[in-house]
Amino acid sequence: MAAPTRSPTHAARTSASAPRLYRTKNDLPADTRVTVVARFNQWLADCIDLQTQCKQAHWNVKGPTFIALHELFDEINEDVEDYVDLIAERAVQLGGVVEGTARAVAARSSLDEYPLRASSGEEHVESLSSALAAFGKTVRDGIAEMDELGDKGSADILTEISRGIDKWLWFVDAHQQTAPAAAGNGVKARAR
Ligand SMILES: [Fe+2]
Repeated sequence: MAAPTRSPTHAARTSASAPRLYRTKNDLPADTRVTVVARFNQWLADCIDLQTQCKQAHWNVKGPTFIALHELFDEINEDVEDYVDLIAERAVQLGGVVEGTARAVAARSSLDEYPLRASSGEEHVESLSSALAAFGKTVRDGIAEMDELGDKGSADILTEISRGIDKWLWFVDAHQQTAPAAAGNGVKARAR
């Protein structure tokens, strides 16, 4: 969603959706690689956004659960940083160009804005678990998408990331899980 105040060159600076590939001996068809690279640029933007949100939570959390959450959020950040690299380098392996600057990422990310004034452990748990769940969903959807395109390598990378995000979502989510909800309730509350 482009803000009206952005300069006319803004679109030109965030142009990964344009089919721009380096020559490679990788045998995946060029049209498949174009699609995969564009999708990986989207996951890259989301993942870098998620990483900054982990740090935002790590730095700003307050309250009686400070030390546990401060350390947990940094552990999540470290894994998410690895996912950023996995995602970016997959696109480059396929001849693509990645757009991972803060400005490109901010323009493209599909994640909700992190509340900059969040303070308590409860607020950060709610915000970060929502971001993890949203990113987890788009990555999980991507596994089937890459399978359908015949790119098992990309599907495998997304599967690894999905597994890790599911684990970290559990670690954060558990702070809010006091009693089992009726079937489907938790899913509905989170799906936005
Ligand atoms: Fe730190």
